[in-house]
Amino acid sequence: MISQSSIDLVFETSRVEEVIGDFVQLKKAGSNFKGLSPFSDERTPSFMVSPVKQIWKDFSTGKGGNVVAFLMEHEHFTYPEAIKYLAKKYNIEIEETEQTNEQKEAANERESLYLVSEFANDYFQKILHKTDQGKSIGLSYFKERGFTEETIKKFNLGYSLNEWQAFTDEALKKGYNIEYLEKTGLTIVKDDKRFDRFKGRVMFPIKSMSGRVLGFGGRILTNDKKAAKYLNSPESDIYHKSKVLYGIYHAKQSIAKEDNCYLVEGYTDVIQFHQTGIKNVVSSSGTALTPEQIRLINRLTKNITVLFDGDAAGMRASLRGIDLILEQGMNVKVCSFPEGEDPDSFAKQNTLEELTLYLEDNAKDFIQFKASVLFEDSKNDPIKKADTVRDIVNSISKIPDRIKKEIYIQECARIMDISEEVLFSTLAQINKKEFQEENKKYSTEQKAFEVIKHKQPVKKVDVQYILERKIIEILLLYGNKTEDFEDLVLKENDKGELILEPVIHQAKVFEKVFLDLQDDEMEFTNEKFKTLYYTIIDALNQNPEFELKTFINSVRQDMASEITSILMDDEKYHLDNWQRMDIFPKEKQHTVAQLVSETILSLRCFLIDLKVKEFRLETAQNKSDSNRNILEEVKDYSGLKMLLSRKLNRVL
Ligand code: CTP
Ligand code: MN
Repeated sequence: MISQSSIDLVFETSRVEEVIGDFVQLKKAGSNFKGLSPFSDERTPSFMVSPVKQIWKDFSTGKGGNVVAFLMEHEHFTYPEAIKYLAKKYNIEIEETEQTNEQKEAANERESLYLVSEFANDYFQKILHKTDQGKSIGLSYFKERGFTEETIKKFNLGYSLNEWQAFTDEALKKGYNIEYLEKTGLTIVKDDKRFDRFKGRVMFPIKSMSGRVLGFGGRILTNDKKAAKYLNSPESDIYHKSKVLYGIYHAKQSIAKEDNCYLVEGYTDVIQFHQTGIKNVVSSSGTALTPEQIRLINRLTKNITVLFDGDAAGMRASLRGIDLILEQGMNVKVCSFPEGEDPDSFAKQNTLEELTLYLEDNAKDFIQFKASVLFEDSKNDPIKKADTVRDIVNSISKIPDRIKKEIYIQECARIMDISEEVLFSTLAQINKKEFQEENKKYSTEQKAFEVIKHKQPVKKVDVQYILERKIIEILLLYGNKTEDFEDLVLKENDKGELILEPVIHQAKVFEKVFLDLQDDEMEFTNEKFKTLYYTIIDALNQNPEFELKTFINSVRQDMASEITSILMDDEKYHLDNWQRMDIFPKEKQHTVAQLVSETILSLRCFLIDLKVKEFRLETAQNKSDSNRNILEEVKDYSGLKMLLSRKLNRVL
């Protein structure tokens, strides 16, 4: 268990915008930051971070909360993991109370997999640097590749002894469970035998965006033709090959800053680039790029440069995968290296200036590049040329932006020496075919849900809901403020007439709200708001130093999330430029006191209307004596309503 004082210190120190900024590219938008949602596949930013309120909200998925909630959502951390992550980021030492055996057991399985991987990472590095075999075989191999000591340490490179179960034995001795060793794939279990998967290999740990070790790649050092040159961890609960990019942890900041990401083939390319001085580089490690991996990059930049080896066959094969990147609306460039060179060897032989210059000079727009390559291939073969045209137009059709599409068509017409009309009509054919396929899907779907599809749901504005929510918002933002409230009091003037006279009195906002609502014996109708209301009033009542940030962190997760939605709603209007509903037309110019009075009065008026309607219904239904009483009450309420309306008009 982490001590409460450590947790408090972590919350005090953490800045939500800094923490989220490590994962999402944030841009300043007024007093907030906004960016692309890391939780959905969106193209226009709807993810907001408020440095003032220290909360975030993702309008595309509805998720939101404080800094810890973000880490729990995004990194799938548990609460203690999130606290520990923040403590590490801000160099805070965590006090821990001793864990019981039960608590240890309860720590979830994923965490165990992480721990085993973390242990393995330390172990392989120790073997590399501290043992004779590690030094003479592993370390000397890396040195031969040209990796410096600094690079080796930065990427946590390691070595696994060339023995059957040296690692497994050590892990078991340290108390790690064989179940987790097997699940991470570090140990292969066959009947009663155990083997180290990475026996005799140099090790490349694969890390998540936030730097946790998820799995490993291991390169063999012998010339054994039967064994694979590179071996990777198998899929596990923490390692999903299609969702990670090698190097993303070390590259993310640089990708955002340079606003471009280089994509290379493997571990050694990434590392060599870093050593040369280019840090915005990742690799999909041996597999074709997946949509999830592209999304990972898309959060950081819109621009991607794919780097190819100097061999032509490989390059042609890779061209196909790139349509996926276009589909996500990214700008793609490609760059190939001289025959026989790959990014690794080229970076090794050149200085940063030379490498940078080479990339600048040789990176070509993908569509133009593809068009020229295909044109070369099919120059003298009319039938092949027809296929080629379709191929290139197919790529263009994936680009979401229409203007870009058009420019590309013109460009390709020039490169391939074909008329624009032909290309446009090919594009139209492809679009039509896709549209028809979409439509087919749509029309079968529509049959099943016909009624719903045709009926546009009418959005009913629930005034009471909005007003109750507004009161919560007021309490959260201004509850502790002392304000001058104007009240209208009935008085007799010199002529003996009853008049309403304004009287100013000072009060704390939450007291005013509480007393006014109590006056009318009003209760919140929405259960969530009711609980929140009493929790907030209670907190304000008990603590004169009430602070929103501390308060959010002290309540249950579901309440915190509700609070976040309420507070961030305002931001949503900024975001979408939506018309505000007609309930608080002048809110922004209001003083807090006006806002409070107006909201409460509006709610009171609304409830009185409701009451009157109820009474009317009752009277219509029974014609007995009790009608007289009801009528009296209606009269009272109508009087009250008039009074309230007058007050409200004054406020407005
Ligand atoms: N790679 C891989 N799986 C393989 C082969 C290669 O994941 N079976 C990846 C590795 O990440 C490697 C990159 O592709 O860094 C480049 O491959 P290659 O040049 O064959 O690997 P090197 O280790 O550079 O081998 P060599 O010294 O023979 O060039
Ligand atoms: Mn190589």
